[in-house]
Amino acid sequence: MRLTLMADQIALAVRDLAVHFEMEQGVVRALEGVSFDLRAGRTLGIVGESGCGKSVTARSILRILDRPGRVVGGSIVLDPGSSGSTDVLALDSNAERMRAIRGGRIGLIFQEPMTALSVHYTVGNQIIEAVRQHSDLSKQAARDRAIELLREVGIPRPELRVDAYPFQLSGGLRQRVGIAMALAGDPDILIADEPTTALDVTTQAQVLDLLRRLQAEKGIALMLITHDMGVIAEMCDDVAVMYLGRIVEYAPVETLFAAPRHPYTRALLRAVPTILAKPRQRLATIGGAVPHPGARPVGCPFHPRCSEVIEGRCTAAVPPPIPPGQAGASCFLEVPG
Ligand SMILES: Nc1ncnc2c1ncn2[C@@H]1O[C@H](COP(=O)(O)OP(=O)(O)OP(=O)(O)O)[C@@H](O)[C@H]1O
Ligand SMILES: [Mg+2]
Repeated sequence: MRLTLMADQIALAVRDLAVHFEMEQGVVRALEGVSFDLRAGRTLGIVGESGCGKSVTARSILRILDRPGRVVGGSIVLDPGSSGSTDVLALDSNAERMRAIRGGRIGLIFQEPMTALSVHYTVGNQIIEAVRQHSDLSKQAARDRAIELLREVGIPRPELRVDAYPFQLSGGLRQRVGIAMALAGDPDILIADEPTTALDVTTQAQVLDLLRRLQAEKGIALMLITHDMGVIAEMCDDVAVMYLGRIVEYAPVETLFAAPRHPYTRALLRAVPTILAKPRQRLATIGGAVPHPGARPVGCPFHPRCSEVIEGRCTAAVPPPIPPGQAGASCFLEVPG
């Protein structure tokens, strides 16, 4: 009973998030009205082509958006509905409370682990520092905790590896250290931004296994960013498909694969290679390129590439967003005309 309740608990609610980059050439609307929930014990996949706003979403949540990026609207609320709920957008990005949330409540795993690691310090010292930032453990206790974390992420002989420098480790082990770093503050939310893109296929599968195990054991709310539909199928409970700064489809993973509702999702799925494809058969690709967010088409942002475009409708207005918490597609094919 308790497990069911836990699984339903919303750890983080994002509503109508809008992010602009004010550039010399004009305003780039990187995110427009993005809404979703991260739930304890569940994995939400965020998928979409390069530039659709996946990393900007992650960085907005952690308040580490690059300049000149600016959140211009919406809310990002931790523990919504509870008496201790916090709108992270109301906090100063450098405030102590925000620094405690970053790493302590929400851990971040990067595509390239060296983004989180320094070449100058041993992995142990870096994890020890992260552990001590989020606890009052003594140096010795933090070192023991670091070794325990390295063991937890499957690093062989952690009591020796703790004194290694990152360059002495393989790419796969480095990403495991990156995951240990993200876990150092014992977060209940993990955001993994393309955590396996830089790894070879075998290592990729191992790191995904690790993430799945950690997520299940700790009941973590995991937000997994990827452009790989295979990773989505293997890892996620729910999926948000993004296109040009908006969520265009939201669905439980089985539904998304069995009955995709947005033409963009259907195109993404057609572009996935399958073992059933004949050798050398050409992969379906999505026609046209993603427009730059600074030059957004009028009407539905996907209409110039859409094979099911309704002239006069999709070319004139933006389809309504998907109500948060509901499955659906932001597409006029879904809305009776
Ligand atoms: N530092 C920046 N300066 C200016 N514009 C930016 C910056 N970072 C992101 N953007 C804009 O925001 C959009 C979304 O970027 P984002 O990094 O979130 O894409 P993404 O979905 O993570 O892509 P990828 O799959 O390549 O990682 C980009 O297309 C770009 O226009
Ligand atoms: Mg990215």
